[in-house]
Order: sequence, then C-alpha cells, then structure tokens
Amino acid sequence: MVSDVRITPSILNADFSQLNSEVAKISQVADLLHLDVMDNVFVPNFTFDFEAASKIVKESALPVDAHLMVADVDKIAVQYAEIGCASVTIHAEATRNIGQTLKNIRAAGSRASLGIKPGTEIDAYEEYVDQLDMFLIMTVEPGFGGQKFMENMMSKVKRTRQIIGDRPIWLQVDGGVSMSTIEFALEAGADTFVVGSAVFNDPDPAAMVQKLRKHAHEYLGY
Ligand code: DX5
Ligand code: ZN
Repeated sequence: MVSDVRITPSILNADFSQLNSEVAKISQVADLLHLDVMDNVFVPNFTFDFEAASKIVKESALPVDAHLMVADVDKIAVQYAEIGCASVTIHAEATRNIGQTLKNIRAAGSRASLGIKPGTEIDAYEEYVDQLDMFLIMTVEPGFGGQKFMENMMSKVKRTRQIIGDRPIWLQVDGGVSMSTIEFALEAGADTFVVGSAVFNDPDPAAMVQKLRKHAHEYLGY
C-alpha cells in the first residue's frame, strides 16, 4: 500500500538558460529535483555532460534524483553518487553489471534505482529487489518531455508493486504525468511522480506541484 507520495519535477522542460531561477520556483514544494541526463546515444537527445550536471547538483537547493539515460552507465553512475545525488537511476538496458553498479551507488551514499523502458519487462529484474531503493517505470519512450502518458504501462507498475511487497522501496513513474494521468499511476501503485511539462509549462509551477500532491492525497483518502 502506498503510504506517501513524492513529486519530483523534471527540469527537462524548464528554461536551461536560467536554471537556478527555474529550480527556485519549485524548491519550497517539491521533494526532489529530477535531473534527466541524456547522452545522444542511449536516447536521441542530449542534455548535460557530467561537468554541467555536477554544477546543477552542487547548486540545487533540493536533493537531486539523477535519471541517467546514457549508454554504458556503470562507471558514470557511481560518479553521480559521489557528487552527492540523493538518488541515482541506471537503466537496465544500459548496464553491463547491474548488481555491482547498484552496490557501488549505495556504497557512495546514494539511493540506488533501476529504470526500465516501455519495451522492457520487469520480471527479469526481480532478483535485484533487495539491492534497490527505487524502481523507475518509464511511461513514455525516454528522450523527450511533453509526450503522452502510456496507460498500458500500468500493468507493469502493478507487477512492480507486487515485487516490492512491503519493502520501503519507492516506485516512480516518469513521462506524461499530469493532473489527468496521475490517478492511473496511483491506482497501479506508484508513489513517486516525475512531472516535467505539466509543472514547468504551468504559469505557476509551485502551485502545480502542490495541486498534484493534494490530488494524490485526496485520491489515497488522506
Ligand atoms: C523523458 C524524461 C522525463 C521527462 C518528463 O525521457 O525522462 O523525465 O522530462 O517530462 P514530461 O512530464 O513532460 O513527460
Ligand atoms: Zn526522467
């Protein structure tokens, strides 16, 4: 059962030329800052190299939830943990050694998280459950903000919730989450919500974060 919800705004749709002021808009109300790192290899888009990402992590008023959409992620994932990210997500499709990398992320002091793309099934990764602090189920093909929420991923979210059982592991969904889709993910058992365009395209990003949280709490009967 979901006991609390986290809203983790993604800055992918924020104005990169003034990131600090964009982050400041939501830093009083969001739980973590979701940082989408893309390398133009694992996904057909590029956002930040390690140096630029490190600067954001260092300056962020919020703990950072790094979502690494990069090929051959094992070595760099540990570096993201070492610079102080609160959580580091590696993609199952991009790692050569899941178990060891998850262990290294935790050893460097971050929460260890495993993400899967829409075409990847969850069952093959059940064996790593005790090495994880979060699962990320993509609800769009990774690469771009502003895409449509894939409701047909909800059976995978439900299955992941079953795998988690009563462990205190977060279950995050990413892609297309908004006031009109968050309920599907809540119903399926997600408790951690990446929201990009719905927050940063809103005239009042902080109010939108609060509206999403309130809506989720009401849905859960708080
Ligand atoms: C997509 C990214 C997402 C994206 C979410 O590859 O991982 O975090 O920014 O943006 P929205 O909420 O607009 O789908
Ligand atoms: Zn993301």
